[in-house]
Amino acid sequence: MDNAAIKSYIDQNKDRVLNELLDLLRIPSVSADSKYKQDVLKTAEAIKARLIEAGADKVEISPTKGFPVVYGEKIIDPKKPTVVVYGHYDVQPADPLELWHSPPFEPVIKKTELHPDGAIFARGSCDDKGQMYMHVKAFELMMKTNTLPCNVKFMIEGEEEVGSPSLGDWIIENKEKLKGDVILISDTSIIANDTPSIDSGLRGLAYMEVEVTGANRDLHSGVYGGGVANPINILCKIIASCHDENNHITIPDFYADVLELTKEQRDELNKAPFDINNFKKDLGIEDVWGEKGYNTTERTGVRPTLDVNGIWGGYTGEGAKTVLPSKAFAKISMRLVPNQSSDKISAVFQKYFESVAPKSVKIEVKPHHGGEPVVVSTESVGYKAASMAMEQTYGKKPIPTRGGGSIPIVALFKKELGLDSILLGFGLDTDALHSPNEHYGIFNYYKGIETIPLFYKYFTELQSK
Ligand code: BES
Ligand code: MN
Ligand code: MN
Repeated sequence: MDNAAIKSYIDQNKDRVLNELLDLLRIPSVSADSKYKQDVLKTAEAIKARLIEAGADKVEISPTKGFPVVYGEKIIDPKKPTVVVYGHYDVQPADPLELWHSPPFEPVIKKTELHPDGAIFARGSCDDKGQMYMHVKAFELMMKTNTLPCNVKFMIEGEEEVGSPSLGDWIIENKEKLKGDVILISDTSIIANDTPSIDSGLRGLAYMEVEVTGANRDLHSGVYGGGVANPINILCKIIASCHDENNHITIPDFYADVLELTKEQRDELNKAPFDINNFKKDLGIEDVWGEKGYNTTERTGVRPTLDVNGIWGGYTGEGAKTVLPSKAFAKISMRLVPNQSSDKISAVFQKYFESVAPKSVKIEVKPHHGGEPVVVSTESVGYKAASMAMEQTYGKKPIPTRGGGSIPIVALFKKELGLDSILLGFGLDTDALHSPNEHYGIFNYYKGIETIPLFYKYFTELQSK
């Protein structure tokens, strides 16, 4: 299938292909909030229907301990290669709602500086409904034009945004069904719409919750203040002690397994264009911040981090209340880089917090979800096929980059299925994923649909060599 034929199919179906995505975006499939349970399930039903319409066989809503996986396949010839597509139909919570310029589940199209052709504003537009749905439409295109060159299996989950707690078991139970040659995922970013790139790695994650308890009840801060530990003060002090003056993490053994990049790898990584002034301007900051000795590309791509995601306790209502609180809480996550292990890092974190807390308080450290970092070889057949596909549709060879985000299940695909994942993403980091006013470029959406069939073509060709 050539580029012109692909473009002509997209052109003839432009409006429908876009409207179907808008319909999906109208269903608030927030996996974290049980209030939306029915909507998450409704989204799975909608994807099932769209996959059947596109021509997939054996389409089912496959139950897990949590939200179901939508599965479907098209086996044209068992001797041909099989591409396994992964994506997620769940989305992040939309709040803070008051910061959205239009309601998060009523998609609207507006032009922006980076998206002069317009972008779809809605929660999940970029992460990941818009990117996942490109695969359904690219599959439809190949089916309708009789150009599907290999087998395909779809595995679209509904719990990615809460750490994929059920997918691991589902994969183990469905190993036979998932046999294939490569996993294809669009859930990451490119550098810019005129600068294609492919992530050759993702960071891992260790997410912790800490509870610090002082006295057995809230106290009068005048009567007791100064004589009894304030758990908020103590928690803040411990958190502050996690970084030194160079913004290096101080937890013992935190860096023990980190593989430092070689000079060559570092140079390679820094070939990706990065405009620090645009970066600062977009975020409204005077200066960047981070670990000494590394630049922003390195800090966000190949260095581990420790960040407080939320902290609470004491009185936060209107006016002032003099209180010495009994409890303080924080949610703290660490991004991990190749060779670090989520379990090991959770353990050194817990040990550190427990060891530095004074006897005046009790401290409880609980791990939430985690995920391992991944590296994708730029020498693999899948990466090469992705690179060739993008080069053709963008007119430029994509630059290998490192994604700072995490897709925890990717490491499991390798471990349980022995398959590499190709991170063929089309979003922009500035598309406000997880933030108010998330959006996805119309250009990016159609470009994805145009590029994916070429991935199939090149993958099949290279794999058959
Ligand atoms: N699609 C993102 C991950 C991502 C975004 C990777 C941009 C690279 C570039 C994914 O949906 C996500 O948000 N993952 C979470 C993981 C978590 C909820 C377990 C993350 O990275 O925080
Ligand atoms: Mn995602
Ligand atoms: Mn996400």
